[in-house]
Amino acid sequence: MVSFKSVFTLGLVGSAGATCEEVRPGCGEVNIFFTGLPAHHPIVAAIGLNTTMVDVMLRRDAARVIAAGYNLKVVHMGPEIDMSVMEEAMQGQTWHGTGVGYGMRGSQRPDVTIRFEEVLELFRSEASDAPTMFNYNGDTFTWALQRRMPLASDCADSPGIDYGYDVHCDVCAQ
Ligand SMILES: *[C@@H]1O[C@H](CO)[C@@H](O)[C@H](O)[C@H]1NC(C)=O
Repeated sequence: MVSFKSVFTLGLVGSAGATCEEVRPGCGEVNIFFTGLPAHHPIVAAIGLNTTMVDVMLRRDAARVIAAGYNLKVVHMGPEIDMSVMEEAMQGQTWHGTGVGYGMRGSQRPDVTIRFEEVLELFRSEASDAPTMFNYNGDTFTWALQRRMPLASDCADSPGIDYGYDVHCDVCAQ
């Protein structure tokens, strides 16, 4: 079996040469780790967002990522949760791509900004070869993935693996 990394490298080489066809990874061959703030965290409500709607958007987008053929692990956690929780969630798997949600990147709070830096540090140590991709709202991580790491087919008959959707929050109402 050809590893994803070599397939991806071939793809890069292929795209540089006019005669080579680009080789894209297949359904269920790409492991993606995504993190962000829990939808129901008070920080999200404080920015004026409808947290119910954010929750719906995040979960709908995660389901869409899997339906599109990517294997996905989601770990949403507030800045009050220790980074070791995320570190543990990343271990034991090779990650081909990572992502950080909009709410964490756009925050005007020092604690969330520090957390964003910590997340990027963790990605660098646990998934140094994986590109980190960004959505532009709670509903568009699929867009980011299909833009940066398109798969060979639409995977309509062979979705990716759901590695879990974890929410860690000490201060969420629900
Ligand atoms: C928040 O969004 C939900 C789901 O779309 C909706 O039912 C609810 O009325 C919204 N709440 C507010 C305060 O706008």
